[in-house]
Amino acid sequence: MKRIAVLTSGGDAPGMNAAIRAVVRTAIYSGMEVMGIRRGYRGLMKDEVEPMSLGSVADIIQRGGTILYTARSKDFQTPEGQARAAEVLRSHGIEGLIIIGGDGSFRGAQALTRLGIATIGIPGTIDNDIPGCDRTIGFDTAINTAIDAIDKIRDTATSHDRTYVVEVMGRNAGDIALHVGLAGGAESILIPELPVSMDDVMAKLERGAARGKEHSIIVVAEGAARGMEVGKYLSEHTQFEVRVTVLGHIQRGGAPSADDRILASKLGSYAVKLLQQGESGKMAATLNGVLTAVDFDTVFTTPREPDFSLYKLAEMISI
Ligand code: F6P
Repeated sequence: MKRIAVLTSGGDAPGMNAAIRAVVRTAIYSGMEVMGIRRGYRGLMKDEVEPMSLGSVADIIQRGGTILYTARSKDFQTPEGQARAAEVLRSHGIEGLIIIGGDGSFRGAQALTRLGIATIGIPGTIDNDIPGCDRTIGFDTAINTAIDAIDKIRDTATSHDRTYVVEVMGRNAGDIALHVGLAGGAESILIPELPVSMDDVMAKLERGAARGKEHSIIVVAEGAARGMEVGKYLSEHTQFEVRVTVLGHIQRGGAPSADDRILASKLGSYAVKLLQQGESGKMAATLNGVLTAVDFDTVFTTPREPDFSLYKLAEMISI
């Protein structure tokens, strides 16, 4: 393979730049040319393709976001959009494409694979919601950002004897909520994978108050409930003074953690090697700590659960 390309797609995640850098540097080291595609599949359909060099990825390993920009494209989900994207890739002599993004982005990659383009996906999303891998790029940074915020919220919650509802990201997955709930000592954690019981939440608040604890943190994954609604319900049904904080896109930005940079560097380099070996239609991942190529079909069909043991542990030690 002489020429490959890389793009980022879907929601950005800290560490994507480190992955781009590893792709570009590994490809050049291996004697290949690399093109960068701007704005994901949308940019690909519009021919936003540019050559990348060793210098074009200098000084980015520590930067959040993605220097290639990203987008969510509805047009690319159509057969016409996919055919156009394949045509643009062929017009540049690009034989292999590396896609850094979530499982929606991998579905797009799968479509291009069927059109004869070799593709390898790299899991990059703060949600950590991709089956078949230990971690997605960006998750570690996002939970550290959220923890930093929760620690600060706890300070003021304690000073004012207040109950705080903190909404974190996670459209379909409770991983962020579970991890920051445990690490932040939250009294309750609401995740989309488990039924939400406001009775349980209120019972915990009452139990805490009965032993003199007047402040609490309730972490809510956005996919489980809206923080504002949880806050309103608690205000209306309890005597506690409630405030709500929605952390939002703060969780998507910032310098990637060391773990995310290391994971991104490993996966970026591995993805290039997979293309060189003639692999296609696969996700480059670490599974049980080992670099592994997982078929997109397996990614799409494997059911995924968060680590429920974390939930049980948090329940036990937040009494
Ligand atoms: O990338 C994942 C994610 O951050 C989800 O946690 C969230 O629901 C969604 O993206 C938000 O997307 P957007 O930035 O397009 O509003």
